[in-house]
Amino acid sequence: MVQAPRTVLITGGAGFIGANLADRLARAGHRVVVYDALSRPGVAANLAWLQASHPDRIDAVVADIRDADRLGACVADVDAVFHLAAQVAVTTSLTAPLTDFAVNLGGTLNLLEALRRRGGRVPLVFASTNKVYGDLYDVDLAPSGDAYLPSDPDVRRWGIGEDRRLDFHTPYGCSKGGADQYVLDYARSFGIPAVVMRMSCIYGPRQMGTEDQGWVAHFLISALEQRPISIYGDGRQVRDILHVADAVEAYRAAWAGIDRVAGRAFNLGGGPANAVSLRQVVAHIETLAGRSICASPTGAPATSATTSRTRAGSRPPSASRRSVRGARAWPTSPTG
Ligand SMILES: NC(=O)c1ccc[n+]([C@@H]2O[C@H](COP(=O)([O-])OP(=O)(O)OC[C@H]3O[C@@H](n4cnc5c(N)ncnc54)[C@H](O)[C@@H]3O)[C@@H](O)[C@H]2O)c1
Repeated sequence: MVQAPRTVLITGGAGFIGANLADRLARAGHRVVVYDALSRPGVAANLAWLQASHPDRIDAVVADIRDADRLGACVADVDAVFHLAAQVAVTTSLTAPLTDFAVNLGGTLNLLEALRRRGGRVPLVFASTNKVYGDLYDVDLAPSGDAYLPSDPDVRRWGIGEDRRLDFHTPYGCSKGGADQYVLDYARSFGIPAVVMRMSCIYGPRQMGTEDQGWVAHFLISALEQRPISIYGDGRQVRDILHVADAVEAYRAAWAGIDRVAGRAFNLGGGPANAVSLRQVVAHIETLAGRSICASPTGAPATSATTSRTRAGSRPPSASRRSVRGARAWPTSPTG
């Protein structure tokens, strides 16, 4: 996947996945424009790290995705766009749905319009979420040791495919799901070479994990700081996790193969083989930390038990194959 050096725009490029992607693209020789409002606490440190690591290849634009003029000016002279800027917390979307809508859906439309106005065929890779499939309550589960497993052997083997019906839950699910559909439609209606990556739980370095978003990092940070962890439900709920390095390779593969994958959506996760329950993650962190962690179940039901159990099934070209099998490594430091 060797590409000539290009100029690439990453919205949300100071965030967890964006910073890892920017670093990887800069290391591959590309010039990266990081467009980020730095609204997520802590991400300024990611930007400083990027600029220190690649002084000649990282340009920062500290601006909001809702600012259509600033965004349009940046889109004017780039060769590809990765759109990751978002309001990322379900909880925030429930307390501030208008902001969630304006950033996630309005911001995406600003970007799509800038690309449409510009004309030409500038590739776009969009960071969507497996939450577009809703709560998957109809998928029958049975407890098996420390985890729930799907009763249907096909679902157990392959997970949930992209042909699953869409079912947006929560304002975050609606705003991201709406953006996902707009991106696909701008590919269909206006020929923009755009691809959608519906991601499960991504984890790894540079993640500012909180209880609301980035739970693997949140668990790790809590354990390192000897703070208790709250687990909603009985902890057997399963999440499909993927290391950020594998997600980044899948993004690069999607860009490299854009002529083949434009107009399509892909589930991007570790696959059933890398699905873990919250209990299993806590046990693994206990092994890493060499001591037990105070992880207390709360009375809340395990409502989102299965939403992350997507597959990386019909994936873009070969690099993401590594993603399916490769989510074994754990970060030794959540911010390192
Ligand atoms: N991390 C995951 O497991 C996961 C799973 C599914 C989907 N996603 C999607 O991937 C993308 C990146 O997620 P992440 O985990 O890196 O989150 P993140 O919070 O670390 O990164 C998002 C970045 O967007 C920036 N941002 C927020 N609002 C902005 C605005 N109005 N204008 C400009 N920049 C703004 C933030 O400052 C932050 O740097 C998001 O679109 C998210 O919905 C992430």
